[in-house]
Parts: sequence; structure tokens; C-alpha cells
Amino acid sequence: MYAQMVKSEASNDDPHLLAAFQARIDAGEKIEPKEWMPEGYRKTLIRQIGQHAHSEIVGQLPEGNWITRAPTLERKAILLAKVQDEAGHGLYLYCAAETLGISRDEMTEALLSGKMKYSSIFNYPTLTWADMGAVGWLVDGAAIMNQVPLQRTSFGPYARAMVRICKEESFHQRQGYDIMMKMAQGTPAQKAMAQDALNRFWYPSLMMFGPSDKDSVHSAQSMAWKIKMNTNDELRQKFVDQTVPQAEYLGLTIPDPAVKWNEEKGGYDFSEPDWAEFFEVIKGNGPCNAERIEARQKAWDDGAWFRDGLMAHAAKQRAAKVAAE
Ligand code: 3HC
Repeated sequence: MYAQMVKSEASNDDPHLLAAFQARIDAGEKIEPKEWMPEGYRKTLIRQIGQHAHSEIVGQLPEGNWITRAPTLERKAILLAKVQDEAGHGLYLYCAAETLGISRDEMTEALLSGKMKYSSIFNYPTLTWADMGAVGWLVDGAAIMNQVPLQRTSFGPYARAMVRICKEESFHQRQGYDIMMKMAQGTPAQKAMAQDALNRFWYPSLMMFGPSDKDSVHSAQSMAWKIKMNTNDELRQKFVDQTVPQAEYLGLTIPDPAVKWNEEKGGYDFSEPDWAEFFEVIKGNGPCNAERIEARQKAWDDGAWFRDGLMAHAAKQRAAKVAAE
């Protein structure tokens, strides 16, 4: 089914309908599920929203890894709440994608078979407690940078889901920064752990924004349709400009000697991530890809009895309703 949807991209949409659709987008109108839309628009949204939903769900794994080992009861409660929020974000996004005519089961099957992606960042391991700080600060920080503009995206259900998600992501970012503050002000060993976490998560966080603009396949069309509001490089630059002073405040060093304020462009210069590594990770060859998909496959298999039970119950209720009519 997902493959069929991808194939349908080469659509023969009526040029008059296409022009009227683009005029609505240009006028800032929201597109709602039952309204006419080009096949490519629908397909791009399913790809992006579905990938985003999968990222929220897979993103629970590296942090879930630390719930049982949080250093205090308070930190445990906060981390537990954050991980639960991510599950909620996944659900809002799956629901938004379902309004486009694909089911959650089909999206899950596409994830498990490797046809659909999830964010590259979750293929890196979380080795120490300081990583919970770095993930909240940098990963959720990068996610917000990308997602705040998506509150104005042209597809109604996606834009509305993003409003609530962004509120919660801001809390996630603050809790991560709070962990980093505690560790950076702690013993020399704790500060070293915080620096090590920053060293390992810096470039993977920059990669979250996607390849550089010259290699971004979808940006031009997605921006014309207001499915994306900014290019990958624009958002990456904004993220660096926001994060460098935050690192300075912590007394930590960004692991890139090229980071330097550039008066002329009004932003920081910085080194590009290793794009060869990025493309390997999104092909499935990152440090944790196999482990992440294995965990999702297990959850899918373990939940089969529940899905079957739910469907049988729904069928029984439908039959009882028909019999009563
Ligand atoms: N990880 C995995 N794949 C990525 C990627 C990344 N960080 N960045 C780009 N790609 C993939 C694209 O999906 C595309 O592959 P495809 O054609 O097979 O789908 C290819 O690389 C080329 O990239 P493009 O720039 O052309 O792709 P997009 O226009 O889709 O831009 C994007 C990529 C900026 C990530 C965009 O899809 C987007 O804004 N998505 C919505 C936000 C999102 O998905 N965020 C996930 C972050 S994690 C999160 O939110 C969890 C929270 O708890 C932290």
C-alpha cells in the first residue's frame, strides 16, 4: 500500500485544479483532509508526517534506556513524563497522517520493512546520564527549531498537532538544559561527562535538519506547498546561533574549532557534519539502526494479540448492533 502511494506521485492532476490549489496555499489557507489535493502533496505529507511520527516513537528508546537508572526520584519522574509525551506526539502525528488515507498499521509495516525512515539521531547510543541532558538540550532543541515553523504548515491536521507538540518539546528542551547545568556545575568528573555528551551529540544534532540544501531532494516542492517553511540549512544555522551561547553559559566547548561569530552574516560559522556518515545512517547502517528496528518489531509482534482482540471485540459489537436494528 505504501509503495503504491509512492508510485502514484507521477500524477495526472488537472492543471486548473493544481493552479487553484496553489493559489489557496499562496493565500495562506489551510488544506483540510476531505478537500481536493494533488497526489504529490498527499504523498509528501504521508512521507513527512509518517516519518515524524516514527521518530517520536523510536525516539523513546534511547531515553527509555535511562528511566530505571535516573539518579534521583525527581529526575526519574521528569524523564518518565518526557518519554510518555513522545508517545503522545507519535499518536497525534499518526492520526494526522491517517486523515490522508493511510492506516497506522500500514505506516508501521513500512517502517519495519525499511520503506519509511525515522530521524537519523535515534541511531546513536545514549551511554551516560549526561546524554539525557544532551538529548533534551540539543535533540529536542533541534526538533523545536524545525517544528515551531511547522505550526504554520499548510495542512490543517499537521499544523494543529504541531501546536501542542511544540509546547511539550519546549519543556523537554528546558529539562535537558537543566541536567546539563547541574552536571557542568558539578564535580570535574561530572563536567567531563557533560562535555563528552556534547562532543558525541553535536554533529548528529546538526544532521537532524537533513542534508545541505544542494542535496535536499524535496525542499523546493515542499516549500512551494508550505509543507516545509524553511530550508534545511536555514534551520541548521538558526540552531547553531541559538546553541553556541547556551554552551558558553554552561562553560562547555562546542567540538568544532571553526565555530566563530561572523559579523557580516550575523551568525556563527561552523563545520558541516560528515555527510557520508549521515547517508550511511539513513540507509540503515548507523550504530543502533538494527537494535531500534528490532525493538519496534518486538513491540509490534508482542502487541498482535491485543490488536486481534480489539478487532474481534469491534466486530462483535458491530454484529450486535446490526442484529438489534
Ligand atoms: N533522518 C532521517 N532521514 C532524513 C533526515 C534525518 N535527519 N533528513 C533528511 N532525511 C531523508 C529524507 O526523508 C529524504 O529521504 P526520502 O526521500 O527517502 O524520504 C532524504 O533524506 C532527503 O532529504 P530532504 O531534505 O529532501 O527531505 P525533507 O524535505 O523531507 O526534509 C526534514 C527532511 C527536514 C527532516 C523534514 O522531513 C521535516 O521537517 N520533517 C518533520 C520533522 C521531523 O520529522 N522531525 C523528526 C525529528 S525527531 C523528533 O521530533 C522527536 C523529538 O522527540 C525530539
